[in-house]
Amino acid sequence: MPKLEKRAWAEPFKIKVVEPLRMTTREYREQALKEAGYNTFLLRSRDVYIDLLTDSGTNAMSDNQWAGMMLGDEAYAGSENFYHLEEQVRKYYGYKYLVPTHQGRGAEHLISQILIKPGDFVPGNMYFTTTRLHQELAGGTFVDVIVDEAHDSESLHPFKGNIDLSKLAHLIDRVGADKIAYVTVAATVNMAGGQPISMQNLRDVRDMAHRLDIKVVLDATRAIENAYFIKTREPGFETHSIANILLEMCSYSDACTMSGKKDLLVNIGGFLAMNDREIFEEARNLVVVYEGLHTYGGLAGRDMEAMARGIEEAVQEDHIRARIGQVEYVGERLLSIGIPIVVPIGGHAVFLDAKRFLPHLKQLEFPAQTLAAELYLESGIRTMERGIVSAGRDSVTGEHTFPKLELVRLTFPRRVYTQAHCDVVTEAVEAVHDRRHDVRGLQMVYEPKYLRFFQAKFERI
Ligand code: F0G
Repeated sequence: MPKLEKRAWAEPFKIKVVEPLRMTTREYREQALKEAGYNTFLLRSRDVYIDLLTDSGTNAMSDNQWAGMMLGDEAYAGSENFYHLEEQVRKYYGYKYLVPTHQGRGAEHLISQILIKPGDFVPGNMYFTTTRLHQELAGGTFVDVIVDEAHDSESLHPFKGNIDLSKLAHLIDRVGADKIAYVTVAATVNMAGGQPISMQNLRDVRDMAHRLDIKVVLDATRAIENAYFIKTREPGFETHSIANILLEMCSYSDACTMSGKKDLLVNIGGFLAMNDREIFEEARNLVVVYEGLHTYGGLAGRDMEAMARGIEEAVQEDHIRARIGQVEYVGERLLSIGIPIVVPIGGHAVFLDAKRFLPHLKQLEFPAQTLAAELYLESGIRTMERGIVSAGRDSVTGEHTFPKLELVRLTFPRRVYTQAHCDVVTEAVEAVHDRRHDVRGLQMVYEPKYLRFFQAKFERI
């Protein structure tokens, strides 16, 4: 008898509550898509079968987190849940001070206002939409210093999220260390395809920055997923726990911004954490203006409790292995039938390479936007454009920026979909791939001023 291949992972949970999904017809979806201006952000969620738009705030909470919700201390000041969250952030992330925010961009806003002066530069490992916008609104200019491999969807570099130290040094030489507000380091790098940064690179960046008295701010949104890649890819970390790797990663930065809606298994929440007392004092002042008192930062007590409990669940080895295992399962199935995706497969998502998928479309015919629309039409699957629409316009010249990568993100919420759902997804991608030569591009007919990908509208050419 031939033997079954042993699986590397399985879900470390069972399902207790279910949420029914609605199936729709192709004619229905054609109409819904037209009304949404071919923008998946503008679809109604009830018209979506499998929602891979984002892994942000779409996680399934555990019974333990739901139980914690009942222990929400909804006092205006000094909520018990704040102190629990503070304790957990200290224990697992290692920073001394915590300022809760309603979500990640709330923290980005505060740190940008505190550390950036007009005319400053902020180097980082590829932009993220909201992060860069807050840096620009504070008067800064973001400079991408990620390794070149990050822009190559076919490069098998194990740490495509790394900072290119010579690019960083060159920028510092050119503008002077006093013009660098801080180095912004993301782990993992969302726009590069969920690609990790290595521990060695984090250490080197810290060394270079600190020699010149420059601060390092970590975007810790998916740092736990990054820790898994360090454990499985970086020599010397095989036997370290995810929790220990996370702590060491954070130790190479002065502060972090956090969107708890990803790694931390909640539906809302974020924080800014730091070691510097003065930055903390300023953040505590500002948070009152924009988010809420410094012991709730725009969150209900119950939200802070769910996040505090989520931190502990998120660093469990079985959890993270199954989480990334599911994403890799989909990526490997797609690779096996020759679908062009970003490799290595990322932590939170599989990224289709729309330039290679639809090579007959020019970049201004929005290949990734088009492919996301076609996937919805095919099977009711909702995905997200990460290409020229997301990249937006140059803040100085007003021209489109043309990113090298034109991607469609299939983002997996944590603990939400089953393996059969995953198979439906791969079959839908295959079906669109089979008829790719007939796919026509889009033209933009409405363009908002900020973060245009959220609300832009398109028509078929
Ligand atoms: N940093 C990264 C790397 C992110 O991916 C996000 C959000 C944020 C910061 C901002 O956090 O949404 O809580 O304000 N990313 C979502 C996504 C929107 O779909 O990738 P937020």
